[in-house]
Amino acid sequence: MRVKKAVIPAAGFGTRMLPITKAQPKEMVPVVHKPVIQYVVEEAYHSGIKDILIITGKGKRAIEDHFDRTDVNKHNKYLDELDRILNEVNIFFVRQREIRGLGNAVSYAESFVDDEPFALLLGDTITLPPCTKELIDVYNKYKTSVVAVEEVPREKVSLYGIVSCKEIENRIYIVDDLVEKPSVEETPSNLAILGRYILTPEIFDCIRETKPGKGDEVQLTDAMKILNTRERIHAYLFKGRRYDIGNKIDWLKANIELALEDDEVGKEVKEFIRGLEFD
Ligand code: G1P
Repeated sequence: MRVKKAVIPAAGFGTRMLPITKAQPKEMVPVVHKPVIQYVVEEAYHSGIKDILIITGKGKRAIEDHFDRTDVNKHNKYLDELDRILNEVNIFFVRQREIRGLGNAVSYAESFVDDEPFALLLGDTITLPPCTKELIDVYNKYKTSVVAVEEVPREKVSLYGIVSCKEIENRIYIVDDLVEKPSVEETPSNLAILGRYILTPEIFDCIRETKPGKGDEVQLTDAMKILNTRERIHAYLFKGRRYDIGNKIDWLKANIELALEDDEVGKEVKEFIRGLEFD
């Protein structure tokens, strides 16, 4: 079976970005020309996916408005690019009724996904080049769930789901175990889940069996731990760039790096930064 559907959870509250996210979703925070969730939808589209479900929740209505057809009589290349994509994809929305964790949010995708493998892209994370495309290649080879990971400094493991695994070929691993936000002492490795996954539909039974874990929330990582006792899961070491826009430093870095690379504003931003004085 091919991966034809994508699920984008965008229901979590942007606590680390307050007060920017007091009255707007963290997924709508701008990075250079576009809100972050537009990058995520574009990643799904450029990975060959046409059916996209966005899981929203309280205070997230701006996300739905953003993906309406543009009704202003003004054009620019980013709006036109979005409209072109919107002509080709179907975007569906469902609301998580209460904040109960990523695992619970993903469970709302069950009837949309039905019995197919699907891509899961966290709505506050940008990957360049599109990580989902690379994960689909791994899925097509092994036909199992695949989770993208990257190496993080050991003192940061408690911010992530961590995977312990055995390398079977260059950058591809068989997962032994997964732990959500372990302490430095208990962590089995420094390979962190970065927010891009391919999951088989068996994940939904596993989520149903998952008890609330870290933060008293139903964690996707815990559901994947159950899945790993039933089916093989592969991990893929992503070598591109990842920005977690729920984190202020990553958000600032994304704006600087992507602005420097941008055709329209890059030159001026470069000159501006060159002219700054640092101590
Ligand atoms: C979530 C996941 C975690 C993953 C992280 C990536 O955590 O639960 O496993 O490593 O996203 O950003 P959150 O950042 O929502 O706390």
